[in-house]
Amino acid sequence: MNREAQGSQEGVRIRKARAQDIPIVMEINLESLPENYWYGFYKYILDNWGEAFLVAEVGGEIVGYAMSRVEQTSDPVLLGMKDELEGDKSVIDKILDAIRNQLSEERPVGHLVSIAVRPGFRGRGIGSKLLSATVRVMKNVYRVDAIFLEVRVSNMPAIRLYEKFGFRKVRRIKGYYRDGEDAFVMVKRLL
Ligand SMILES: CC(C)(COP(=O)(O)OP(=O)(O)OC[C@H]1O[C@@H](n2cnc3c(N)ncnc32)[C@H](O)[C@@H]1OP(=O)(O)O)[C@@H](O)C(=O)NCCC(=O)NCCS
Repeated sequence: MNREAQGSQEGVRIRKARAQDIPIVMEINLESLPENYWYGFYKYILDNWGEAFLVAEVGGEIVGYAMSRVEQTSDPVLLGMKDELEGDKSVIDKILDAIRNQLSEERPVGHLVSIAVRPGFRGRGIGSKLLSATVRVMKNVYRVDAIFLEVRVSNMPAIRLYEKFGFRKVRRIKGYYRDGEDAFVMVKRLL
């Protein structure tokens, strides 16, 4: 089955976003998440990492999106090489961590900036299709070492979705969101 046919399965088509899709993407974002962005931010992502700005269509109507960008980092946590949430470590492990941190060079990582599906279309695999396509593009087009994202610690549907795709919680950021809620950083290593 070719990629087009796969995307059309069960009436859902995943395709690259176009500039004219941004207003509807902004509408879905506003109804789904408290983290909102201005038009120029979406356009900036589209212009720079257009392969990784995806929309989901059902019957020709956009019902979801996922947008990601590529960043450079030497942070071993974002590269999926270190888990800050694992229990107490031995002295040896701590020393090894310190050495790894010293040696680490900047590498490309994918950052899933935002993903959402219209409320009436959730729970039928559309988020999974968007995430699966994002992972594929990050791996095959942008050739990143890992993909990371931030998620509210209370957002169980999203955390379950990410875990289903092999993302692991690796860091907790206190008060990351404007309302004071903590974020988990989750990472999927691709190498
Ligand atoms: C997170 C979100 C994108 C998932 O989209 P979706 O189309 O409903 O996802 P899917 O139908 O593909 O579900 C995939 C997995 O997510 C998890 N999941 C989805 N909805 C869930 C729910 N209400 N409760 C618990 N887990 C849930 C399940 O593990 C599910 O896998 P399963 O069907 O094998 O059980 C959607 O809930 C959403 O738009 N939420 C609001 C925006 C948001 O929170 N975005 C993430 C910001 S970090």
